[in-house]
Amino acid sequence: MTDLHSHLRDRILTTLAGLGIDRAAAEPMVRLDPPKNRDHGDVALGAFQLAKLAGKAPPALATELAAMITSDAIVESAAAAGPFVNFRFRREALAREVLTAIQSDAVPYGKANQHGQTVCIDFSSPNIAKPFHIGHMRSTVIGNALCRIHRHQGATVHGINHLGDWGMPFAKMMTAYMRWGNEAELHKSPMRYMFDLYKRYSVEAKQNPALDDEAAKHFQALESGADNQERRMWQLLRDESLKAFQGPYARLGVTFDHITGESFFEDKMEAAMARVSASGVLEDSEGAQVVWLKELGIKEPCLLRKSDGTTLYHTRDLAAAFYRETTFHPDRILYVVGAEQKLHFDQLKGVLTKMKEPIAKAVEHVPFGLVLSKTDEGKWEKFASRSGNAVFLDEILDEAVAKVRSIIREKNPDLPNADEVAEQIGVSAIIFNDLKNSRIKDVKFDWESMLNFDGETGPYVQFACARLSSILRKVEVSVPDSDQIDFSLLADAERVLLTMMDFGTAVQRAAEQSEPSHVTGHMIALAGEIHSYLREHYVVGEAPAIQNARLVLVDAARRLLTTGLGLLGIAAPERM
Ligand code: ARG
Repeated sequence: MTDLHSHLRDRILTTLAGLGIDRAAAEPMVRLDPPKNRDHGDVALGAFQLAKLAGKAPPALATELAAMITSDAIVESAAAAGPFVNFRFRREALAREVLTAIQSDAVPYGKANQHGQTVCIDFSSPNIAKPFHIGHMRSTVIGNALCRIHRHQGATVHGINHLGDWGMPFAKMMTAYMRWGNEAELHKSPMRYMFDLYKRYSVEAKQNPALDDEAAKHFQALESGADNQERRMWQLLRDESLKAFQGPYARLGVTFDHITGESFFEDKMEAAMARVSASGVLEDSEGAQVVWLKELGIKEPCLLRKSDGTTLYHTRDLAAAFYRETTFHPDRILYVVGAEQKLHFDQLKGVLTKMKEPIAKAVEHVPFGLVLSKTDEGKWEKFASRSGNAVFLDEILDEAVAKVRSIIREKNPDLPNADEVAEQIGVSAIIFNDLKNSRIKDVKFDWESMLNFDGETGPYVQFACARLSSILRKVEVSVPDSDQIDFSLLADAERVLLTMMDFGTAVQRAAEQSEPSHVTGHMIALAGEIHSYLREHYVVGEAPAIQNARLVLVDAARRLLTTGLGLLGIAAPERM
């Protein structure tokens, strides 16, 4: 919350107390949001819930509040509009509060102190021995942004890579490798090689279903815990995959606090199963063990042990939930996984709910849509294998960077460290494109719109940042301390200032709703506002008092854009 917000909030709560409304009860209901239309006011208060508390109709309470909250040094006016009260801040106070807070890195612009909430974020989690596909890229990018956003908000965050390194999918890979693979070839290009083996397995298993039985046997041997050939193979393929994933992770600026894949739960599943059984919800079904969830509206039972005694993806997720509970004491566990796994997470939460485990409440699936690419006929289709080839993330990133490199060659041939800048812009274009819309929507993967420097893109926001940096380089004075400027000179910058003021709301919503698009949207808005301001106003060469005030404004915009991009995992180049 900004100082402007807390001042106004305090005035509202005091006024409500005067109307006999309990402060503590009212507190969570006083939310000051940006109004739909900025012409109506700077912030709006919806009186719906408060009116219930007051036993009045919302418009009546709104009118009463608007009349009672008179102007002061910060608040200029209050006006009721139906069930809302719209407030306006004094322009000088707006400029002073916003710019001083940004310059001193105060909350919400700077990082908050730890506030005691703990959030586990389970993200990326590719399956080893398989290419890092585009769906995992979405999880990686969204999860990374959520980790950064929650840290900014002061939560203790555990970013977890729940690698798929166990179970049947992996056993199939192992089977293929044992039949047809060799180590010298593997080391040459591990992911490609494993991918080719996997493809061969899929083709041959269609003709020869006995392959799947073989895979099941290998999995049983692996799960037996013995030091056998399967175990050695598992270690080799896991090590090679992790090494290969490191490339894309580094380029996307992603790190994990814990890489605890499915295999990590190998020795924790029996205890988990015992706990399910003790709670009385486990049932036998033709030799397998399941939990029925019909009463929770879930038709399919959750399968926790197959009749051959082996465990499943669900068994490991259950063990992981218990492990996270005792190890991290999380308030929330966010599973950033595609929408196609909705049933899986409904069942996981369902089993925990049926067991009356308190951790059930913390489990939140954060689903997202597909990535689509355009076919030659111009139709949007699931981004899959082009001509039967997997699309390796590294190659996609390379393509983006190469495209940006050629744009730079054309537009700014003298740019120093052009390769580094091209990498930053190319990667950011992909990240931003992924986070731009509400995550549940499908992402259209289209180079032209992604790399458009004038569109709603990463490069557009980065360009705004670089432009501000260039202005600051051009003046040969340093940015003054905000207490040295005359804020009344910034009355013409109200739109920029109001947008800056909204930063905290955007980040808070992103954290609450697991929706980084609130931050991308805010970045686009801020970049747009500062661009239009600079179209009409000069900075360099104005009278000293004006130049100084605008320098502080420009510097604040640059800082805020850099912070916002940072929350998305995107670097802000100084020049481009
Ligand atoms: N490895 C899984 C997949 O690629 C995703 C794992 C998601 N996390 C989890 N705790 N289930 O489909």
